Amino acid sequence: MKDRVFSGIQPSGNLTIGNYLGALSNFSKQQDKYDCIYCVVDLHAITSGIDPKTLHERSFEIMALYLASGLDPNKSIIFYQSHVPAHAELMWALNVITPLGQLQRMTQFKAKSAKKDEIQAGLLNYPILMAGDIVLYDAKYVPVGDDQRQHIEFTRDLVEKFNGIYGETFIMPEMLKTKSGARIMSLQDPTSKMSKSDEDDKASIFILDEPKRIEKKIKSAVTDSLGNIDYNNEQLGLKNLINIYSAITLKSPEEIVSEYSGKGYGAFKGDLAQIVVEALRPIQENYKEIISDKGELERIYKDGADKANEIASKKLSEVYEKIGFVKK
Ligand code: AMP
Ligand code: TRP
Repeated sequence: MKDRVFSGIQPSGNLTIGNYLGALSNFSKQQDKYDCIYCVVDLHAITSGIDPKTLHERSFEIMALYLASGLDPNKSIIFYQSHVPAHAELMWALNVITPLGQLQRMTQFKAKSAKKDEIQAGLLNYPILMAGDIVLYDAKYVPVGDDQRQHIEFTRDLVEKFNGIYGETFIMPEMLKTKSGARIMSLQDPTSKMSKSDEDDKASIFILDEPKRIEKKIKSAVTDSLGNIDYNNEQLGLKNLINIYSAITLKSPEEIVSEYSGKGYGAFKGDLAQIVVEALRPIQENYKEIISDKGELERIYKDGADKANEIASKKLSEVYEKIGFVKK
């Protein structure tokens, strides 16, 4: 039997090339080697306070982008988290064994809650829901960007804890990461992560941005006054652009530096813009076609939910039995 891969993306905003290079582009690559399950994690998305209409639209958008980027429903299971009740149910069982202190120490929780007047329990419990997603399917590998490392570590701790209390139930998952695309930074502030929710539109390139817009954003990306193409921590803006170049072309940063040595930032940025535009073009074209056929989309996600439900409900029964609940 093939090992299983599970991952998810929140339908909470326009996907960026950070999402693409750190996660999505890595999803379709796994389809032949592993038994893959990809989820649109809408239960997670509501922790951000997203309004119903936006959530609804984004949910279709992400499902269509999954397919547009090459996920094949004949190879992978593709579904919405809210269509499989076992995710929320398992979360409760994991909730009761999770130490509060560990949740409060999570860096994403600290960062997100620092910006809020009222901190909701859902934000705190977010990592438990994510851990449940992964263990519900006995996933061995989880393709995610670098920012999810702590959540994967947390999942591993929880697996150890649950298995310790109730006996061997869940398998130990591992992060599956891409090399250079694992952490794409903001084009306007290379010390912070490129994010769907950045208020500055110029900071992020979205997968569905038009070519002209992509060009403009790359040309106005923050660099430095040194003027020479090099890959180091003094030139963080440039380093980030080289990482993007490298993640798409699969050339190493060293190769890219030597290719552009003696050339200016303008030439490099111009080429990079073309490379990004060409990489996104087929996805954008597929997307337009897929999003226009809601009937076919519906058929795909319903079929995905049926398949996911079958696996998840079996696992949940096993968990309930281990816990000691009476079988119905
Ligand atoms: P999210 O936008 O938080 O739902 O993230 C979806 C996936 O994209 C996760 O696997 C993240 O690790 C990945 N991701 C998000 N932003 C970036 C980024 N700037 N660079 C690399 N990966 C990212
Ligand atoms: N927390 C992840 C993110 O923000 C999304 C996510 C939820 C996820 N459940 C998951 C990723 C399970 C991988 C596996 O990116």
